[in-house]
Amino acid sequence: MEIYDLIVIGGGPGGYLAAERAGHAGLKTLVIEKREFGGVCLNEGCVPSKTFLNSAKVLDYANHASNYGVNVEGKANVDQKFVVNRKNGVVKMLVSGIKAQLKRNKVTMKNAEAFIEGKVAEGFSVKAGEEKFVGKRLLIATGSMPVVPPIPGLKENLQAGVVMTNREILDLEVIPKSLVVIGGGVIGLEMASYFSSVGTEVTVVEMLNKIAGPTENEISAILQKTLERKGVKFCLGAKVTAVEKDGVIFEKDGKSQKVEAEKILCSIGRRAVTQGFGLENIGVNLERGAIVTDEQMRTNVANVYAAGDVNGKIMLAHTAYREAEVAINTILGKKDRMQYNVIPSVIYTNPEVGSVGETEESAKQKGLDVKCVSIPLTYSGRYVAENKELDGICKLVINNKTNTLIGAHIIGSYSGEYIVAVSALIDLEVDIENIKKLVFPHPTVCEIVREAIFSI
Ligand code: NAI
Repeated sequence: MEIYDLIVIGGGPGGYLAAERAGHAGLKTLVIEKREFGGVCLNEGCVPSKTFLNSAKVLDYANHASNYGVNVEGKANVDQKFVVNRKNGVVKMLVSGIKAQLKRNKVTMKNAEAFIEGKVAEGFSVKAGEEKFVGKRLLIATGSMPVVPPIPGLKENLQAGVVMTNREILDLEVIPKSLVVIGGGVIGLEMASYFSSVGTEVTVVEMLNKIAGPTENEISAILQKTLERKGVKFCLGAKVTAVEKDGVIFEKDGKSQKVEAEKILCSIGRRAVTQGFGLENIGVNLERGAIVTDEQMRTNVANVYAAGDVNGKIMLAHTAYREAEVAINTILGKKDRMQYNVIPSVIYTNPEVGSVGETEESAKQKGLDVKCVSIPLTYSGRYVAENKELDGICKLVINNKTNTLIGAHIIGSYSGEYIVAVSALIDLEVDIENIKKLVFPHPTVCEIVREAIFSI
């Protein structure tokens, strides 16, 4: 039986990057993936949704071209079949890129379902389909799946194709007349943004009194307003209690109401995948259904690591990347640890939202002595030159005691691209006076950070 230094279970961002880094460092590595390499992120999540959203952006531009002195005859429209085909092409190209990269790093790939049989003298026995392998170490990167709670009618209508998750909606070749989105979180809002742009009547039903969960309050209010302007309807403080084939029933202010729609998207969160592949055979500890990991991505079982959504910490592909690197560095004996306080997040709606670190609310809840500054993006020349709707803002949270940035929250074009620069300033604990000395290219939208710093 072939013995590997490391067997990685799951070929998504956590798994493929871990395998790549391990292979690069000279470890004999096997990665087992039961569906497609690239995982949810590449095949039915982050990347496909961005191809959709880019089509919506082009459409929005075309339909509002006159704002920029460009005349377009008639109304532009979307060829949804083309959008789906293009998405499939993008995915195919990137998946083959990942496989090529794994190959370059001498990683063995198996497209099969993995099953951990148990501990053996040399490590762990793992089946990949009909084949058996031994890994001296294991890295679990099985990811997450959509939560489908026991709401009456939900499962049945999911099977009937009326209800979709992120997987099905990204293969929809016909634009529905109407769509109800259950859950106003990241997936729900990105899809609401896309489908409202392409002409679907969209209603978002959200249990909380705000959209976009942990997003800074001022920012989520602006995002809601701009999506409303595009025609999205929001029912907030509304809990879905039943799903029918022509809509959903929700409770709001103690009253039961119904919103009708042709299609329904269920986007109420994701849960770690920890069942069905023999994890119990080696005694890995779980907490609320997710694998418990320490700062080095170790589980309670020696030589078993976990990275990505499966540990239920921060379910973002870029968190998985970093966790994968920490796990491999730990295996290689290099000192490293996972830090979760400076992980940027982006909502790719139009306008997009880039956030990192503490919000005013979270900082105050932690008892930190902070000051906040919030300025409109109209302070940026490029933003004004390129936009008609000018409601973007940049809000910074500053720790008074250390005179450093601890949070940044921006809504407006490109924010998802330059938020990482602010992350670096936070991570490196750069003093505000030193940030003032940095030169930003002009005119750029990211200059807004410099403007905000000087407005403190
Ligand atoms: P989410 O956790 O972001 O949002 C779920 C929302 O559903 C919450 O606001 C919750 O209050 C609401 N909800 C729950 N039960 C409900 C009910 N019965 N009725 C009405 N509302 C209800 O989850 P989502 O959007 O499914 O995303 C899943 C994961 O994927 C997240 O961890 C997210 O971070 C990740 N993701 C990240 C993206 C990005 O970074 N751009 C894009 C898409 C997904």
